[in-house]
Amino acid sequence: MALIITTNPSVPPLKRSDDKRSVDVRYMLILPYTSAHIHWDSKLNELVYEIEEPLLDENEKGLLNQIEDALLEIINVNVAIDNTPEATIEYLDKTSKLLIEEMNLNISPNSYEKIFYYLYRDFIGLNEVDPLLKDYFIEDIECNGIGSPVYIIHRVFRNLRTNLVYKDMDRLASFVEKLAQRAGRYISYAQPLLDGALPDGSRVNASYTKDVTSKGPTYTIRKFTKIPWTPIQLIDMHTDSPEMLAYFWILLEYKLSVLIAGGTASGKTTLLNALAFFIPPEARVVSIEDTREINLPRENWLPAVARTSIGVGKLGEVDLFALLRSSFRQTPDYLIVGEVRGKEAFVLFQGMASGHASLSTMHADSVDTLIRRLQTPPINLSPTLVNTLDCVAIATHAVVKKVETRRLREIVEIVQVNKDGTALVNTPMSWDANTDQFYFKKQSKVFEKISARHGISVDDLQKEFKKRTKLLYALYQKKIFDFDIVGQIINEYYKNPAEVLVKYDIKE
Ligand SMILES: Nc1ncnc2c1ncn2[C@@H]1O[C@H](COP(=O)(O)OP(=O)(O)OP(=O)(O)O)[C@@H](O)[C@H]1O
Ligand SMILES: [Mg+2]
Repeated sequence: MALIITTNPSVPPLKRSDDKRSVDVRYMLILPYTSAHIHWDSKLNELVYEIEEPLLDENEKGLLNQIEDALLEIINVNVAIDNTPEATIEYLDKTSKLLIEEMNLNISPNSYEKIFYYLYRDFIGLNEVDPLLKDYFIEDIECNGIGSPVYIIHRVFRNLRTNLVYKDMDRLASFVEKLAQRAGRYISYAQPLLDGALPDGSRVNASYTKDVTSKGPTYTIRKFTKIPWTPIQLIDMHTDSPEMLAYFWILLEYKLSVLIAGGTASGKTTLLNALAFFIPPEARVVSIEDTREINLPRENWLPAVARTSIGVGKLGEVDLFALLRSSFRQTPDYLIVGEVRGKEAFVLFQGMASGHASLSTMHADSVDTLIRRLQTPPINLSPTLVNTLDCVAIATHAVVKKVETRRLREIVEIVQVNKDGTALVNTPMSWDANTDQFYFKKQSKVFEKISARHGISVDDLQKEFKKRTKLLYALYQKKIFDFDIVGQIINEYYKNPAEVLVKYDIKE
């Protein structure tokens, strides 16, 4: 009997519904065994997400346990890493059948199929959460310990309670250990916090506490949307306007420094990745992150990821600070720092002061908070260094027409940071929450800065700004969203702007 397990069924068309009570959708997660069922639960009075897996009777459960125990003794855990998914499934199938024969177990083909699903899930997959990880629509998975349901964030239905509840402390603890192992990290009582990335790029945070008062270990998984959104998709989602993007395109071309600020999950990293499309194709880019999130459509790019130490002492640890310092040896034109938090800010700003362009994000709700945070512990920059920052973009959560979205709230130019640490700023572009419209004014202090540095008139910069705005708008109207294609068009524009404008029918 050939076992077929398909872990990426096609993405079903799901529609948002204003009447949550009428929602009742079901789609496959792992073919042909597991599906998601999203429906209204009238007892809980909320929309719930149910993972539907094959049901095992008591006899089958006993058999599964026996086979699992035997498999644990002999299986080589590395097969899953070294092989294709098909080969791994086949290996597991063969090994299980051999064991069943040796143990003289009597299992019907029908039972074996169901049991094999669980063997697959627990040995190759990531146990109970494996179906959730396979769901295209899920952005976040959150487990707050034993006895409480795992919650997810769904692209269409947002926050949903699932029917997955951990009842056993040891089972949850060993799952968190497995997460750590898959992320190539180490978690223990002595090092109870995990911040890492799974092989598919999903980001995982976990805590490992098992004392009596707590609800046990917790974890969150933020799924890696492998292909990041392009600037054109952000226009389509109304996160920002073509003018805003054209503005950043000019800033990045002339190697100015941009920092994206905002609250947790406000879309900073997403915006950072989209803006990085505008970096000139021939420039050398080095990116530095704690966990792998950035993905760029270019060849001349060195992605680096910080590494925490394994085991005793600080052996093997490479933190952002060390990475950033060594990255200057790679002589980058552009430095991308996934998130600025501590002493690495000093290295970054020194780099900016010596002419390196930078693109980074930082947790702060406003420019005032940002400027203050940069000058207080643990960062402690001098006003002179803060002054090397050219521009700040503020990303924000917004609920528009009852739908949760992200908006680029304002673009703020840092005109001058005074000796007392206060900053003089100019805000050329902003989003109005009441009308959900973007506004821009003509005067840009940063354009004046570029003009003075490069001898180009502000007028010419404004003309260029208009052309690029029109081009981005045309791409949006033509629904050109693809990661590689958008990357190619922008790169092509750097080499031959007139041709690209003609191609998209843009008159100067
Ligand atoms: N423009 C957008 N429109 C809709 N959803 C978005 C947008 N940008 C990001 N998101 C969603 O918001 C979540 C967080 O995005 P992102 O990681 O970019 O935020 P962040 O501010 O960098 O978060 P963190 O504070 O964890 O660093 C993701 O699940 C992403 O899919
Ligand atoms: Mg981020």
